[in-house]
Amino acid sequence: MDEILNDIVAGDALALIPLLNDDSIHCCISDIPYGISLDDWDVLHNNTNSALLGQSPAQKGKSGFKRRGKPIRGWSEADRAIPKEYQDWCFAWASLLYPKMKDGASLFIFGARRTLHRAIVALEDSGFLLKDILAWEKPNAHHRAQRISIVMSRRGLDKDSEKWSGWRLGNLAPIWEPIAWFFKPYPHTITDVVLKNEVGAMNVAAVQSDGKNPNNLIKRWFEEDEHRWHEAQKPVSILEFLITLATRKQQIVLDPFIGSGSTAVACQRLNRQFIGFDINPEYVTIAKSRLSSTSLYEKTPQEAQPQQYSMFDKRIVSEAKTT
Ligand SMILES: C[S@@+](CC[C@H](N)C(=O)[O-])C[C@H]1O[C@@H](n2cnc3c(N)ncnc32)[C@H](O)[C@@H]1O
Repeated sequence: MDEILNDIVAGDALALIPLLNDDSIHCCISDIPYGISLDDWDVLHNNTNSALLGQSPAQKGKSGFKRRGKPIRGWSEADRAIPKEYQDWCFAWASLLYPKMKDGASLFIFGARRTLHRAIVALEDSGFLLKDILAWEKPNAHHRAQRISIVMSRRGLDKDSEKWSGWRLGNLAPIWEPIAWFFKPYPHTITDVVLKNEVGAMNVAAVQSDGKNPNNLIKRWFEEDEHRWHEAQKPVSILEFLITLATRKQQIVLDPFIGSGSTAVACQRLNRQFIGFDINPEYVTIAKSRLSSTSLYEKTPQEAQPQQYSMFDKRIVSEAKTT
């Protein structure tokens, strides 16, 4: 395991977690795939017949359908099995992870409001205990709630369109994301495990803001001009908050789904050791390059950039400034 300490490794977490030493990880923090079909890496089921996967004739050549997150003509039985398949995938990696964590260690996972419950059940089934669900409040959120009256008027249903004026399809603006906080159960008392493993307590004093202790509603956002490498990238500041809360200097933090390396960047800034995995070698290149850079904002070499999200970034950053 020493060879991969303070490094990011390309590969499937399910193949790499077994390489870790048992009882070695002080904290695991991961923005795991949410299972909402955000991208190919987020499709964690075998349902190739689903309209969700772009297989229906209506979807040919239209990648936007993948992002709808729902089939276009109702849900087949196979579509309805997707959440359980996501849960099974979470159970597979969580069971491998369990022996690698120290007793009393914290495990934080970011998740989607509509799929996190499946991950929670999987992690409980693999042995972890749920401590809390933190709410990470964002200054804004990408939101589209279509006016149903417009859909109806496009179908020529003018009377219905009038009747449904003011009604919309979809959800309310999603301005918070859940972070499930688990711990590995320990023998004897919490004080014994803090003394033995130096995990299990919270460094509340280190994360105070304006002299006040934190609560479980956490407001953190990207720093101004923090560069975006990954579509699902998390602000380094929220990771710094969690790392500071749950670990001491030099302890080992694992992120098995590290993407562009935000967890490792936060560890490096806080003098924690880290191990990161990602199945996409391009993200691993970016993550390594972020680690060798001295600034959050510096760009990696051109060839290391698989995608750009600059329009999206600018909108979010400028909206964040106004809130
Ligand atoms: C939500 S993203 C993480 C983004 C990250 N928090 C950041 O700030 O850049 C999840 C990542 O998990 C990776 N992934 C998906 N399946 C994986 C697997 N089986 N093993 C390792 N990584 C995987 C994806 O490539 C993706 O980059």
